[in-house]
Amino acid sequence: MQSRTVSQLLSQEITLTDVEIKGWVRTFRAKRFIALNDGSTINNIQCVVDFENTDETILKRITTGAAIHIKGELVKSLGKGQNVEINVTSLKILGDSNPETYPIQPKKHSFEFLRENAHLRTRTNTFSAVMRLRSALSFAIHKYFNENGFYYMHAPIITGSDAEGAGEMFKVSSLDAKNPPLTEDGKIDYTQDFFGKETNLTVSGQLEAETYAMSLGKVYTFGPTFRAENSNTSRHLAEFWMIEPEVAFMDLAGNMDLAEDFMKSVISYILEHNKEDLEFLNTRLLNEEKTKPQTERSDMSLIEKLNFVTENNFKRVSYTEAIDILRNSKPNKKKKFKYIINEWGADLQSEHERFLVEKHFKCPVILFDYPANIKAFYMRLNEDGKTVRAMDILFPGIGEIVGGAQREERLDVLKEKMAALNIPEEDLWWYLDLRKFGTAVHSGFGLGFERLVMFATGMGNIRDVIPFPRTPQNAEF
Ligand code: 4AD
Ligand code: MG
Repeated sequence: MQSRTVSQLLSQEITLTDVEIKGWVRTFRAKRFIALNDGSTINNIQCVVDFENTDETILKRITTGAAIHIKGELVKSLGKGQNVEINVTSLKILGDSNPETYPIQPKKHSFEFLRENAHLRTRTNTFSAVMRLRSALSFAIHKYFNENGFYYMHAPIITGSDAEGAGEMFKVSSLDAKNPPLTEDGKIDYTQDFFGKETNLTVSGQLEAETYAMSLGKVYTFGPTFRAENSNTSRHLAEFWMIEPEVAFMDLAGNMDLAEDFMKSVISYILEHNKEDLEFLNTRLLNEEKTKPQTERSDMSLIEKLNFVTENNFKRVSYTEAIDILRNSKPNKKKKFKYIINEWGADLQSEHERFLVEKHFKCPVILFDYPANIKAFYMRLNEDGKTVRAMDILFPGIGEIVGGAQREERLDVLKEKMAALNIPEEDLWWYLDLRKFGTAVHSGFGLGFERLVMFATGMGNIRDVIPFPRTPQNAEF
């Protein structure tokens, strides 16, 4: 007899009578009904125990969280809410779970509590659904690029370059932190370090991906990235995963087309393949909405939001147009933003981004042609001499989800920019080589994977969509 998953049995893809299954007990009631889950689906299978013929010591060990092995007969269920159930003929306890000390009780736990128990939180419905969706989205991303002629490129994790030039890097060092070797002028002597120089964890694989785009044509990275920004917000992590496609001979308009098509495609994938989990999360959110005052309720459900993104064009708006809109808007009762934009050139805050997407355009927005001085050094300078071919994609409820650009392909312009920002040419000699030998227009973008998972699951805090969140003061697991 081959062991099956709960998902297979419930979907009745197979017509079996004798079945065997392993999983964890969710609940056990009336000494008779076990709700068993094995992670393959949000649903539990009901296993009916013949309690009169089962040893009392075994019955006592069927507790929430225990791992069990069941053999039995799959029959049509007379109960509500399930088509089939298992009449248990043999039951083995694989691993006990003390009901007094097991943290995940069969009741609603707060997300804060579950964050402290991140090692067990995927035993709950919400977190198992979120993590199955995270896995499906990850697959959909690889599938999209694979089917569209991209090569998957593994960018280095330890690097000597600061791709974003924002100085938010975690240092990697083999030196004794308390007692490092010093140079004659009292500075840390990195020549004695493992790599012979200062290195850090990557903030983005973009610069390395550019080198591959300029030989393989269309590439993407999908890996962990690290930022030592001290942002204790619900949208920032110190360790997050980023997807970064990079394409040769593609300009900013092509980059926008690619990003929009890609986002629509991966969201369509889960709408098609992960219905059960999405419906579960949809209902969870609808119930949560009911507890809010009418005026604060969202006018679309989770599934409606996902469908909306796949079915409607993203609105493309230049930074300059956006600033005009923001200056002439009265965003709330106080008719003011907390941070008022007085002049062209100011960076947008998240309140502005969210106003544009949620109140003004009411759809995903691609903002482009930002002022050069608020964006990274590598972006293509426009003919006006003051804006760059940058693009940010803003999503409702999330704000910035994608950041990208057409890259500066002209050697002299790039060198000038680096000099102005005090970026030494010798640090990026290999990056400059791309502009010396066969340079060409090229573009790419970075999608924050956890922000996509937040959007797809309706979760409000980024710490709840990654298995073990890394945030300031938090690296326990
Ligand atoms: O806008 P960012 O900083 O762009 C880059 O890193 C470019 N090199 C990407 C490229 O063009 N290849 O980051 C890209 C995205 C953001 O839009 C956001 O979704 C996400 O990465 N992100 C974060 N997600 C979680 N926590 C953080 N601390 C994040 N910082 C950026
Ligand atoms: Mg950005």
